[in-house]
Amino acid sequence: MYIYIAKSNIVKQLYHLILCIAVLTSCTTHNTSIQSSGTIGNHALVSSAHPLASAIGLEIMKNGGNAIDAAIATHFALAVVYPQAGNIGGGGFAVIRMNYGTINSLDFREKAPALAHREMYLNAKGQLNDMQSTHGLMASGVPGAVDGMFALHQKYGTLPMAELIEPSIEMAQRGYALTPLAAELLNTKQEEFQTYNRWSTPYHSDQDWQAGDTITQPDLALTLEHIQTNGRNGFYEGIVADQIVAEMQSKNGLISHADLKNYQSVWRKPITGNYRGHQIISMAPPSSGGVALIQLLQGTEGYPIADWGHNSTKTIHLMAELERRVYADRATYLGDPDFINLPVDQLLDPRYNEQRFSDISFDKATPSALVSAGEIPPSESPETTHLSIADADGNAVAITTTLNSSFGNKVMVKGAGFFLNNEMDDFSSKPGSPNQFGLIGGEANAIAPHKRMLSSMTPTIVTYKDQLKMIVGTPGGSTIITSVYQTLLNVIDHGMGMQEAVNVKRVHHQWYPDEIRVESDALTENVQTDLAQLGHQLRMTDKIGRMDCILVLPDGRLEGGADPRGDNTALGY
Ligand code: DON
Repeated sequence: MYIYIAKSNIVKQLYHLILCIAVLTSCTTHNTSIQSSGTIGNHALVSSAHPLASAIGLEIMKNGGNAIDAAIATHFALAVVYPQAGNIGGGGFAVIRMNYGTINSLDFREKAPALAHREMYLNAKGQLNDMQSTHGLMASGVPGAVDGMFALHQKYGTLPMAELIEPSIEMAQRGYALTPLAAELLNTKQEEFQTYNRWSTPYHSDQDWQAGDTITQPDLALTLEHIQTNGRNGFYEGIVADQIVAEMQSKNGLISHADLKNYQSVWRKPITGNYRGHQIISMAPPSSGGVALIQLLQGTEGYPIADWGHNSTKTIHLMAELERRVYADRATYLGDPDFINLPVDQLLDPRYNEQRFSDISFDKATPSALVSAGEIPPSESPETTHLSIADADGNAVAITTTLNSSFGNKVMVKGAGFFLNNEMDDFSSKPGSPNQFGLIGGEANAIAPHKRMLSSMTPTIVTYKDQLKMIVGTPGGSTIITSVYQTLLNVIDHGMGMQEAVNVKRVHHQWYPDEIRVESDALTENVQTDLAQLGHQLRMTDKIGRMDCILVLPDGRLEGGADPRGDNTALGY
């Protein structure tokens, strides 16, 4: 945990609170079979990307709010203190399990504006225009986050929405202190902020930001007040909508008043599956996360990976071979279910996956060039962030939310104080051409007006014998699915506690590029040599994912798994 000099009262109080909680909860579990090194909550727990956001979520539950109330408050708080991904200008997905067993999921993913079209990022020669789908106003989809928070609240919230937004307003007004990581990140973004903004945002600075510097955001506070006073319409209509449209019209943005007014999040049936007696509850399309995760787990279940060992040659080889096939299916078949028929049932059919993975050899890697999407029989009828919360009543929520890239399209809406997403890059702008995550796609994920772009976000809840067991999720673009997959295996197969399962190093394969990305120190020299001999290309990479997870221990207490790769913090009581 970082300790830095906070300049404002609220920040001081919150850090004090965090430190007290950390001291009270930093004990190890009494359970002998699981080694818990994470924060323990006897009743409730929040794990999110920022200590101040986790503290706000925890306070909400201590004041009688449930997990959904806490998630909403944490989401708004992340929009203030974690602007690279926490947002009101982006979108995401929520997976929920209430203590009476009901499961549900909310899609508050951004949508393409009405004026978007399939070739909007291509020049006259049919080539992709550099950076238009990632930087600047054309890159934004219609934000879904605010509508999503109100939809969640309407169905499951218990405290007044105004109470859930209030701490974020205060924090935007009074300021929050930068962590060392946040200061470092902001210093790398100054040039982009200057290029893409017409004004000096609170994140501009002529001098390097230092840990402990305080950032106040009066415009964002006003925007949050509009939302607090006017509800959903405080964002999608009125002055904030005017500010968004003015920003769009200042250059080449497409989002109109009608796009904003008509935005609606959608309740979707979660994707479910089984793995070694556990029920997996995850996100349905337009996220590919749930489908791909279940495919990977189906492909793993027949093999004794616990005996093979964590990050051993055989385990990594199997995972990479499964992943290249599953990502080929993702690229070909998945997109927005409101626009095309997706073969979800077929992709989740164990018979399909048995056949799909039947050509995996343990003697050699299959070059991705030899892997294409599986044959689906005709259908019978036609910088992101994650938070996990469990409350004292056993309700659980997993939300992954994003602006796509770090600080989205880098444009902060003038007068409104929040960054816009660059989610349009998640569409397949040109068949076969990779997006910023190297993912390729085709027809199913082509751009169309009002369509949602395919996502990899994988907020996931796991139950065992009908009892809540885990809440899992992470940012990381294309690596989200495989990070969630590995974390589930770490607990279920490799017997790790939650914090250890999050800490250990990860690897990733996504079909193309044909390589296994490897975090440094993930694999021993011997394993690396053996994998190379099997024909795998290995590429060392920096950090994969920033998980925020919760594990219910056998004695009912909760262990947080907050990723040491970021400022992620689990707090419980
Ligand atoms: O929806 C998706 O899959 C991406 N927009 C997620 C982006 C992301 O995770 C970036 N963070 N590292």
